[in-house]
Amino acid sequence: MAKYVISEGVPLRGSVRVDGAKNAVLPIIAASLLSESKSIIEEVPDLNDVRIMCDLLRCLGTDVQKQSDPTTISFETKEITNSTAPYELVNKLRASFLVMGPMLARTGYVRVALPGGCPIGSRPVDLHLKGFSALGAEITQGHGYIEARKNKKLVGNKIYLDFPSVGATENIMMAAVMAEGQTIIENAANEPEIVDLASYLNEMGAIVVGAGTDTIRIEGVTSMKGCTHTVIPDRIEAGTFMIAAAITNGEVRIENVVPDHLKPVVAKLKETGLEISEELSAITVKSIGGLKPIDVKTLPYPGFPTDMQAQVTSMLSCIPGTSMVIETIFENRFMHISELKRMGANIKIDGRTAVIEGKPCLTGACVKATDLRAGAALVLAGLAAEGATEISEIQHIDRGYSGFAEKLKSLGAKITRVED
Ligand code: EPZ
Repeated sequence: MAKYVISEGVPLRGSVRVDGAKNAVLPIIAASLLSESKSIIEEVPDLNDVRIMCDLLRCLGTDVQKQSDPTTISFETKEITNSTAPYELVNKLRASFLVMGPMLARTGYVRVALPGGCPIGSRPVDLHLKGFSALGAEITQGHGYIEARKNKKLVGNKIYLDFPSVGATENIMMAAVMAEGQTIIENAANEPEIVDLASYLNEMGAIVVGAGTDTIRIEGVTSMKGCTHTVIPDRIEAGTFMIAAAITNGEVRIENVVPDHLKPVVAKLKETGLEISEELSAITVKSIGGLKPIDVKTLPYPGFPTDMQAQVTSMLSCIPGTSMVIETIFENRFMHISELKRMGANIKIDGRTAVIEGKPCLTGACVKATDLRAGAALVLAGLAAEGATEISEIQHIDRGYSGFAEKLKSLGAKITRVED
């Protein structure tokens, strides 16, 4: 296992470029299964989650080839040679479940290991299955696997999502693109990653309208073809670096961003008094201290993203005064808090609410990453803490941040990665 060692906190200065979005590229890779011709995906981030998704597609029959530019990967599935997404892969990557929709659409049968829960919550898939059933698939469960089969073509239908689930919206979209007639997804997720997937599907020949709104309409087509697609930038990686600048009282220019995707994060961080300036595809964050405490509530997009909750909790722990963080999306996404308390943070949890009494400075300590964003939050706290911090179990961080230590080091951070 590897760990990060941060010898001391220093203000970060300079510029950093974020990669393609993990949560856009994972469904897009799955969607490449919809065609037997080749797709070329650009701006693919170098992440463990992406490697697992590529392994899964290879297991289903896809020829996956990295191009000369390592962030460009081609996917060509001339024939589906296996209809099962095995437990050992699905267990490592929940997003593997996103192959269900495209496999159902392409072959009419798919068997996927039930994705377990994960540290942040039980993460059911009932809304995904509700959508597949509405399209005419027969769903059976047993021995830890879910099977979906269609006896004839899938037929478009109107589907209301009880919750605007990102994954369910994506899976149903992919299942519906070659169904007979029109599918309407109501109370759909609006996230930018949904829009990017819809763009890719339309470039493949689908007819998807309304992505980015609560209602998405899909007109079934008879076939899909491979294409070239560039993945949108990762708004959560960008937001993480924004907070790195804020928490260390530094000044950082974050490049390769879509400012519009960061609107809820920018709005909230500006409430603390943080100086944030936007360009066409870059954001600069500058802090000279004296920030004010704020209240944050996570909500589906365009609300404040749950994937930024742990990071902003670290930041508010270092702003004197009382802040409040409410996590409405996942039932157990406060595991970073016990580790922050080991660094001197004063935080009380009451159900889904965390009340933070911020301090001028945390103290370095040995802490443990419990999940992807919690790990990132602990790195941010260590970058600002007095004294040395060690973060262990950083394989969680490798899932969603490529070259994290290198990027931070290029901004002046005193961080090294130590392989045990
Ligand atoms: C996606 O997960 C992201 N992952 C998550 O990012 C992100 O936190 C989440 O969306 C919310 O924005 C990827 O895109 C790969 P959901 P997903 O379905 O699709 C409930 C990260 O750190 N729900 O929108 O699994 C569920 O329990 C990761 O990058 C059902 O009840 O999220 C949860 O409470 C973490 N039934 C809520 O909806 C279902 O069938 C949100 O889940 C599906 C979901």
